[in-house]
Amino acid sequence: MTGEEVKEPKEQQEVTEAKEPEICYKAIVLSGVGGYDKVKVEVKKGVPALKSDEILVRVQACGLNFSDLLVRQGAFGKHHSLGTECAGVIEAIGDLVIDRKVGDKIIMMNIDGGLWTELVVTTVNCTYLMPDGMSFQEAAAISVNYAAAYMMIYDYANLRPNQSILIHMAAGGVGIAATQLCKLVHDVTIFGTASPSKHETIKENGVAYPIDYTTLDYAEEVRKISPKGVDIVLDPLGGADDSKGFGLLKSLGKLVLYGSANQVTAPKRSSLAAAKVWWHKFNIDALQLINSNKAVCGFHLGRTDPDHVAEVIRKLISLYKEGKIKPKVDSVWSFEQVGDAMKHMQEHKNIGKIILVPEVKTTDATTGN
Ligand SMILES: NC(=O)c1ccc[n+]([C@@H]2O[C@H](COP(=O)([O-])OP(=O)(O)OC[C@H]3O[C@@H](n4cnc5c(N)ncnc54)[C@H](OP(=O)(O)O)[C@@H]3O)[C@@H](O)[C@H]2O)c1
Repeated sequence: MTGEEVKEPKEQQEVTEAKEPEICYKAIVLSGVGGYDKVKVEVKKGVPALKSDEILVRVQACGLNFSDLLVRQGAFGKHHSLGTECAGVIEAIGDLVIDRKVGDKIIMMNIDGGLWTELVVTTVNCTYLMPDGMSFQEAAAISVNYAAAYMMIYDYANLRPNQSILIHMAAGGVGIAATQLCKLVHDVTIFGTASPSKHETIKENGVAYPIDYTTLDYAEEVRKISPKGVDIVLDPLGGADDSKGFGLLKSLGKLVLYGSANQVTAPKRSSLAAAKVWWHKFNIDALQLINSNKAVCGFHLGRTDPDHVAEVIRKLISLYKEGKIKPKVDSVWSFEQVGDAMKHMQEHKNIGKIILVPEVKTTDATTGN
């Protein structure tokens, strides 16, 4: 073997090292606003840069929320991002981070979106340590739905023993969470609207009177059981349902308005549905409100003081640890199936939370197929 022959493999090795493949990761992005075809998986290159007060997280599971359907349809304008909650493992931390370490499993929420990605850089303040025994899927399902339900029921409506409540979309993410949180108060009567195929599940979850809103007038059904109406209505529907909910309230009752699901009638944004919601919008002036002896509250998680949101999420984690609440996962879908997962929600097929994962593992309890 000559000297030259010995040198050659060394050079080859150096060249190989220099060509080490760049790290790639997947992220769900919008290619525009509109139907299911507008959600795509993009492969990004390189590890996102980390500032000294930030952490790098490898995402394991993400929660799909109704608001993601509205973002895709362009209901909030053209520049909103999908993905407001996820769970994962910390892969790196900045020099100034003291209360998190590599390997910590965390829950993450950011109402501005951008969390449907395999790798994400964030600050510590929108993360929470996952308690023992919590799965990544549960962790991706606990922040938005439960925090919204908690604040509406306890901060706004101040639910107390022996009261009654009507929960719309009772089989959905917020609906399941709201029902479980109402059950923490003694002797609360829960009415819940949902498609009939979901009634058994919502009954098991704590709804005393499931109502098939698709064929029956829910206000009439409530009054058959409770002629005076209810103390609280949680209304994510908008349009004509807002006045109907207000009409169902007892004296000193509270209507909490927190959504406009009636706007969503097709894969693409329907101007007709939006106009219908606008036309039927609930109007009341101060004197009418006084004379009605009722309250109307508007709730928006993204407009709530972040310190309060953090406090509520910590409280929810304690409730989970005590076994008092448990997210119900409907199905698990891969990032590539995000359009189908959205369709599943939009076609009223979910019971509980829809989860997106970078890769579907064989150990996942259910798949969206
Ligand atoms: N203001 C806030 O801060 C805030 C925070 C979180 C959520 N929200 C609102 O809360 C509501 C529930 O959100 P979520 O994420 O938990 O969703 P979700 O309830 O899981 O949504 C899907 C379910 O809602 C029901 N539904 C009623 N109207 C629908 C429609 N027009 N299109 C499709 N499904 C409809 C369907 O069940 P059925 O088969 O029973 O009809 C469907 O399975 C949404 O209106 C959302 O915008 C507001």
